[in-house]
Amino acid sequence: MYASFKSIGAYIPDEIRTNQWFVDRMDTSDEWITKRTGINQRHIASDDQTTSDLGANAAKIAIQRAQLEPSDIDLIICATISPDYFCMPSTACLIAEKLGIRDTMALDISAACTGFIYAMQTAKAFIESGMKKNVLIIGAEKLSSIIDYTDRTTCMLFGDGAGAAVISATENKDEAILDIQCSADGSMQDLLLTPGVQSQEKPFMQMKGNETFKVAVRTLTSDVRSIMEKNNLTNKDIDLFIPHQANYRIIKAVGDALKFDDHQKVVTVAKYGNTSSASIPMAINECYEDKRMTKGDMILLDAFGGGLTWGSALVKFSGN
Ligand code: UT7
Repeated sequence: MYASFKSIGAYIPDEIRTNQWFVDRMDTSDEWITKRTGINQRHIASDDQTTSDLGANAAKIAIQRAQLEPSDIDLIICATISPDYFCMPSTACLIAEKLGIRDTMALDISAACTGFIYAMQTAKAFIESGMKKNVLIIGAEKLSSIIDYTDRTTCMLFGDGAGAAVISATENKDEAILDIQCSADGSMQDLLLTPGVQSQEKPFMQMKGNETFKVAVRTLTSDVRSIMEKNNLTNKDIDLFIPHQANYRIIKAVGDALKFDDHQKVVTVAKYGNTSSASIPMAINECYEDKRMTKGDMILLDAFGGGLTWGSALVKFSGN
């Protein structure tokens, strides 16, 4: 049995927060933010919207596009670092309830910006082992709830949103997700962290931006090279290169090092900022809705985030 990427969906909250919002409140400028990050705006969830609301909205679209009913889903995995509740219940359980799915295994994954790739790897393993048939994977974030809006070095980077996909079992090898690799290294845990209950500090995200930037470029470039070599592929075999959307300069540096052409590179960071685990599925969804991605396309995903965690995936899109 193989795992295939059947469908994609996304939900992006209505409110747009432009760079000017930050300029009005702190010592920064539109020019600095645009030049250093490539971000022009980000979307922010309303006070009464939670991460599970965003995730459930994206999931409904993905299930419908997979031509399935919620009752066909036999595993729900939600990647998030901004869950509705601390520890429990998991955001996946809340999404299950919002979709009307009961008696189905549901769990959260904490792998920061690499969360969607970790979720896909987990879905693939459950399907290939024969244990599950239709796995709903979600990357959902209300990062605005864990951002310190007095810290000018990080607050302008992040936005809210959600993306979801259905990964289904198939016997057709041509539809299979080709390969996924996921890694972690806790020795650099202090680069990106959110203090928890065992700390006296406020539970806001902290990042050593410049150091993280350098490690991200180095790690992502070598990780993509390794998955391509392992599968005997060159950049000519890739239709779309969809990296985690943290900073345009990171995407450009990695894309250039790997010699991807502009038409292969997918860049959405200008509109949405960094939405952590949601950034890759939101970008895939945009390619799908713009008809930039069609059935049979080979997509290369890569992500890097707190933990540290990182991962890459070679995915054949097998939806309609
Ligand atoms: O998604 C998970 C992974 N995340 C990432 O990969 C993000 C990685 N990091 C980054 O994207 C970038 O490091 C940042 C966008 C966060 C920062 O860009 P940078 O080019 O690394 O800038 P820097 O931290 O080296 O700061 C340069 C200067 C500093 O001033 P001095 O010391 O040179 O006088 C900062 O204080 O820019 C200053 N600065 C700002 N100035 C205006 C920092 N934040 C701001 C700001 N507005 N918002």
